[in-house]
Amino acid sequence: MALEQTLAIIKPDAIKNKHIGHIIEKIEAKGFAIQQAFMLQLAQEEAAEFYHIHADKPFFNDLTTFMSSAPLMIMILEKENAIAEWRTLMGATNPSEAEAGTIRAEYANSIDENAVHGSDSVETAFEEITFFFDADEALDFEETPESDTAASE
Ligand code: CMP
Repeated sequence: MALEQTLAIIKPDAIKNKHIGHIIEKIEAKGFAIQQAFMLQLAQEEAAEFYHIHADKPFFNDLTTFMSSAPLMIMILEKENAIAEWRTLMGATNPSEAEAGTIRAEYANSIDENAVHGSDSVETAFEEITFFFDADEALDFEETPESDTAASE
C-alpha cells in the first residue's frame, strides 16, 4: 500500500457546531498525520471553482453558497491509503446512510451540510491539494518515504 496524501475540509456546519476538536481527535486516532492545516473563507466563485465537477448538478448553487458562508478548515492528511481511509472515516455523503462511528454519522446534519469533505482519487487529491497549497507542499507520490529515510541516514 502506498503512502498517500488527501485533502480534508471541515465544513462550516461542523465549525459552527464546535466539532473541529472532535473531528481532529478521530483523524489522529486513526493514525493520519496532519501535514498542513489552515482556516479560510472562500468567495462563492472560489467554492464554484473548487467544486467545478458538480457544476451541472441541481445542488451546485446551494453547495457553493454553503461552502462560502463561513470559514473552512483545510488540511492535508497523510497515511498509507489515506484517500480511501479518509473517505471511510468520513462516512457516506448522506449522513442518514453513514455507518455508526463515522464523522458524518456523528456530526453531520444533512447531505447538504455534511461536516467534512475528502478527495475521491489520487488525481483529485493532487488537484484539490494544489487548489489550496503550493505544489511543492504536496508529496511527490513517486517518492518512497523509505528511500528518503535511507538518503538522510
Ligand atoms: P462533498 O463530499 O463535499 O462533495 C460534494 C457535496 O455536494 C457533497 O459533499 C454534499 O455535501 C453535497 N451534495 C448535496 N446534494 C448531493 C447529492 N445529491 N449527491 C452528492 N452530493 C450532494
